[in-house]
Amino acid sequence: MRTQVGIIGAGPAGLLLSHLLRLRGIESVVLERRSRAYVEQRVRAGVLEQATVDTLVDAGVGERLLREGLPHGGIELRYGGAGHRIDFEELVPGRSITVYGQQEVVKDLIAARLADGGDIRFEVDDVAVHSLSAEPYVTFGGERLDCDVIAGCDGFHGVCRPSIPAGVLTEFERDYPFAWLGVLARVKPSAEELVYARSERGFALHSMRSPEVSRFYLQVAAGEDLDAWPDERIWAELRARLETVPDFTLATGQIIEKGVTSMRSYVAEPMQYGRLYLAGDAAHIVPPTGAKGLNLAVADVRVLTEALAGFYADGSTELLDGYSRDCLKRVWRAQHFSWWMTTLLHTFDSDDAYGRRLQTSYLDYVTSSAAAATTLAENYVGMA
Ligand code: FAD
Ligand code: DHB
Repeated sequence: MRTQVGIIGAGPAGLLLSHLLRLRGIESVVLERRSRAYVEQRVRAGVLEQATVDTLVDAGVGERLLREGLPHGGIELRYGGAGHRIDFEELVPGRSITVYGQQEVVKDLIAARLADGGDIRFEVDDVAVHSLSAEPYVTFGGERLDCDVIAGCDGFHGVCRPSIPAGVLTEFERDYPFAWLGVLARVKPSAEELVYARSERGFALHSMRSPEVSRFYLQVAAGEDLDAWPDERIWAELRARLETVPDFTLATGQIIEKGVTSMRSYVAEPMQYGRLYLAGDAAHIVPPTGAKGLNLAVADVRVLTEALAGFYADGSTELLDGYSRDCLKRVWRAQHFSWWMTTLLHTFDSDDAYGRRLQTSYLDYVTSSAAAATTLAENYVGMA
């Protein structure tokens, strides 16, 4: 079997790449180890930057996003017994975010690819990539796929990045001594916008998916066992961390999904080796506090699409050669922002009183200075 671009992974990066390439007349095959139902139900990110929304809408896959997505013009930072709004409309006019679940993006992309006759193979076993420096090919489940280029969109635990020979990549990494317990609940959101709450008990985030479904996250210990968190404990802890301002009552309801996400910062440089190009989580990970993971994956794919379109138009490798450089600038800005938001809002066991005072001082600065608030706002909605 032969195609132009072999894509490993049907997450947002792989699916969007396949769709954007098709709009440029470039063929691809997507190989995914999980089932369609699994990838469509995997609950993950929910905040789309303006540029991500624009990319999806321009690519013709934004109809449901525009109908069901929730546009937000600000977020709340809650600490020290008060809430403070960061007003995007005022600080970064014309740019905002939209709350729309990642699995909805995935569903929309799969539907579009299949409607166009796209080739997505789910539940493929033993994917391996070969001959990366020339005439690459992929093997899976006893089959072979020859291609011009391989796109490694297989997430952090995929096979593509580890297939690059030792010594080629430089890895940059930071671990955090905590994780996030994520919860989806059938209950009307208790606030109109996202609430990022710092408390002495740890960080909590109030988010949402629709007028009937709320999404919450709690800072918990790294490697925390889900069994230690029965629903009553989750609600009690969310209340303790979020009901810290006057006139806020947390509405509770049926918990329909919960999971623990580890927190890590990671970048592999360069994001390319021979004919293999890494995109999204396969190349970099951020802690979710800045809501950047999905948006970075989409940004990589935008750059890779242009580069591949240039290559297929006239054989030019100029954009492909610059792919890693062009992505890493944005990647590192998001790395810094995500690390900074994480550091600002979480409690660290190692924190002494001095460290906590520094956090409060910076939060006071961000919520009182237009310059500091603009720094947060422009990073949150996404740098141009
Ligand atoms: P992925 O979505 O990971 O997609 C990779 C795909 O490749 C998967 O479908 C996987 O099954 C497939 N795959 C892996 N290995 C193979 C193989 N060997 N062969 C074939 N296919 C393979 N970001 C936020 O901003 N906010 C959040 O709240 C948030 N929560 C998260 C929770 C979890 C549990 C995780 C893991 C991530 C979360 N993220 C969050 C990050 C965000 O979801 C990712 O940045 C985003 O999914 C990146 O998309 P991707 O397509 O690069 O990778
Ligand atoms: C959501 C996830 C995030 O990581 C974040 O920073 C904000 C919102 C969410 O899933 O809704």
